[in-house]
Amino acid sequence: MTYKKNILVTGGAGFIGSHCVRLFVEKYADYRVINLDALTYAGNLENLKDVEHNENYVFVSEDILNDQGIEEIFRDYQITDVIHLAAESHVDRSITDPLAFLKTNILGTANLLNAAKTYWKDDFSQHVFYHVSTDEVYGSLGPEGFFYEDMAYDPQSPYSASKASSDHFVRAYANTYCLQTKISNCSNNYGPNQFPEKLIPLMLNNIRNGKPLPVYGDGTNIRDWLFVIDHARAIDDIFHKGVANETYNIGGNNELQNIELVRLLCDLMDDKMNQDKGTSQKLITFVKDRPGHDHRYAIDNTKLTTTLGWEPSVTVVEGMKATIDWYWDNEKWLRNITSGAYMEYYKAQYSH
Ligand code: NAD
Ligand code: TYD
Repeated sequence: MTYKKNILVTGGAGFIGSHCVRLFVEKYADYRVINLDALTYAGNLENLKDVEHNENYVFVSEDILNDQGIEEIFRDYQITDVIHLAAESHVDRSITDPLAFLKTNILGTANLLNAAKTYWKDDFSQHVFYHVSTDEVYGSLGPEGFFYEDMAYDPQSPYSASKASSDHFVRAYANTYCLQTKISNCSNNYGPNQFPEKLIPLMLNNIRNGKPLPVYGDGTNIRDWLFVIDHARAIDDIFHKGVANETYNIGGNNELQNIELVRLLCDLMDDKMNQDKGTSQKLITFVKDRPGHDHRYAIDNTKLTTTLGWEPSVTVVEGMKATIDWYWDNEKWLRNITSGAYMEYYKAQYSH
C-alpha cells in the first residue's frame, strides 16, 4: 500500500509519544507511523500493545544520536514528516547527569534536522518537522503573568536549557535552510503510561502502598496540568492546521500548587480504596527541595484555542480520576517498572 504520509514519530514508546502514536495510527489509516525509539529506561513497548499489529504501524529501535542510522531510516521508510518527541525528560535526572540531556536533546535533535535537510532538499514545502517542546524553556514565573509564545527564553534547569537549545536549532534550520517546522511548548502532562518517577504516578504508587509522599520544599510550587490525550489532540491539530514556522503554547488552564495536587490525589485515592478521608494525607512528607526549583509555570493558550479551535476535553478532576483508574487497573505495568534499576534511582533520589 502507498501511504499518503510516512510520519517518523521519535520517542513513541515513551509517555506522550505513545499517546501520539496511538492517535495517529487509529485516526489516519492512510498514514504510516514509524515509531523510532532507543527504549531507554523511559521507553516501554507495552504502552503500544493495542496498536502494535496495525498495518500502518512500524517500530524501529534506534538512537537519535546515531546519524547514519537516522539517515537510513529516512531512506528506507521514505519519511515525509517528523514528529519529534524523543528526549531525556526528567528535571531531577538532568540535575544529576546534565550531559546526557545535552547529548540527546540537542545533538539528537540536530541529527534529525540534518537528516530532514538532506532527504527533503528537493521540496521542503511538502514536509513538516514538528518539534515537541516544553513550557519550561520560558523559565520560572512569579505569582502573576503567563507564558506567551513571543516571550524571551529563560531556562533554569539543565533539562530546560537543553530543550531551549533544541528549539533554537529547529528555528535556525527553518530560517537558514527553509525547512518547514512547527514547535509546541506544552505544560506538565499527566495520564496513563507516565513513568513512575514523575510526580503524579509516584504519588499514586506510594499512596497505594502506604509509603511516604515526598513533597519538595514547602509544596507551594505551581504547575499547569494537562491530560496527555489532550496534548496528543493538540499535536494533531498543530501538525495539520498550524501555520508553518510558528510556535504554539499548549496548556489547559489548570494551575495547582504541588501540595494542593497531592492532597487532591490523596482524597481521590481514599475514595478509590474505601478508606476514611484524610488517611492518605497522613503520608505527606516534606523533603529537601530540588536545587533551582522553578516556582511557577502557567500557559496562555489563547493562540491555540482561538486560531485552531483546540479545547481540553476533560477537567482536571475528570482527568485525575481517569488516571487513578488506569494505574489501579494496570498494577502489573507499574510493578514491571518499579523494580531493579527504578529502586536504585529511588533510593538515591530520596535518601537525603
Ligand atoms: P518520556 O521520558 O516518557 O519518553 C521519552 C522517550 O524518548 C522514551 O521512549 C525514550 O526511550 C526515548 N528516547 C530517549 N532518548 C532517546 C534517544 N537518544 N534516541 C531515541 N529515543 C530516545 O518523555 P515524555 O514525558 O513522553 O516527553 C516527550 C516529549 O515531550 C519530550 O520531548 C519532552 O521534553 C516533551 N514534553 C513533556 C512534558 C511532560 O509533562 N512530560 C511536557 C511538555 C513537553
Ligand atoms: P515533575 O513531575 O518532575 O515535573 P517538572 O519538574 O518537569 O515540572 O515534578 C512536578 C512538580 O512536583 C515539580 O514542582 C517538582 C515536584 N515534585 C515533588 O514535590 N516531589 C517529587 O517526588 C517529584 C518527582 C516532584
